[in-house]
Amino acid sequence: MKTSFGPQKIMFPCPTALVVTGTMEKANIVTIAWVSLLTSSPPTLGISVGQKGYSGNEIKKNGNFTVNIASVDIMKEADFCGITSGKDVDKFLETGLTKMASNIIESPIIKECSLNLECILVESNIFGATNHFTGKIVETHIDTDKLKDASDYTSFDIESINPLIYIGGAREYRSIGKKTGDAYQIGKNLFPDN
Ligand SMILES: Cc1cc2nc3c(=O)[nH]c(=O)nc-3n(C[C@H](O)[C@H](O)[C@H](O)COP(=O)(O)O)c2cc1C
Repeated sequence: MKTSFGPQKIMFPCPTALVVTGTMEKANIVTIAWVSLLTSSPPTLGISVGQKGYSGNEIKKNGNFTVNIASVDIMKEADFCGITSGKDVDKFLETGLTKMASNIIESPIIKECSLNLECILVESNIFGATNHFTGKIVETHIDTDKLKDASDYTSFDIESINPLIYIGGAREYRSIGKKTGDAYQIGKNLFPDN
C-alpha cells in the first residue's frame, strides 16, 4: 500500500551546494540543495534559486557562478548561508569561509569545499517564484589530498571528502553511508545468461 500526497517538494538525498557569485572583492554564498547535472557534452548543471533572495539577480547580473560542495565539517557554515541573505550580511566574513580565485570566471570558489565547479550562465528561466539557471561547467577543482591519483579526477576518496547530504522534506543533514556496490556493473547480475 502507498499513501498519496499530491505534488510535493521532496527529494533525497540532495547535495548541499554552496553557490557563489560575485568577485574576489564582493561575493555572496547561497546554500542550494536543488542542484543537478543536466547534460554531459557540454557538461552543464541546473540550479533552482528563489526570486526573493539576493543571489538570483546577482547570478543574472554577473553571468557566472561557482558550485562548491559542502562537507560535514562546515555544516554550520553551510546552514548559516541558507538562513541569511547577502542583502544583510557578508557571508564570507561571518562564516570565515575562504575565497579563492577561479581559473576562468570572476566568481570565486570556496577553499574549504573539496569540489568546486566554475560555471557560466547559459540559460535563465523563471518558473513561478523560482529562477532556473543552467550553468555550463568550464572548470573543475578537486582537493589534491582527496585524490588517490592526482592525474585522475575520478580517483577521489569520497569518505575523506565527507559530503554534507541534505534530506529534502525532512530538512535534515546526514553524512554519506558505506559503499554498497559498483555502478554500471552490479545490475549485470540480473542479465538472463548470468
Ligand atoms: C539546506 C538548505 C538548502 C536550500 N536549498 C535551496 C535551493 O535549492 N534553492 C533556493 O532558492 N533556496 C534554497 N535554500 C534557501 C536559501 O539558501 C536562502 O533563501 C538564503 O537565505 C538565500 O540567500 P541570499 O539572499 O543571500 O541569496 C536552502 C537553504 C538550506 C538551509
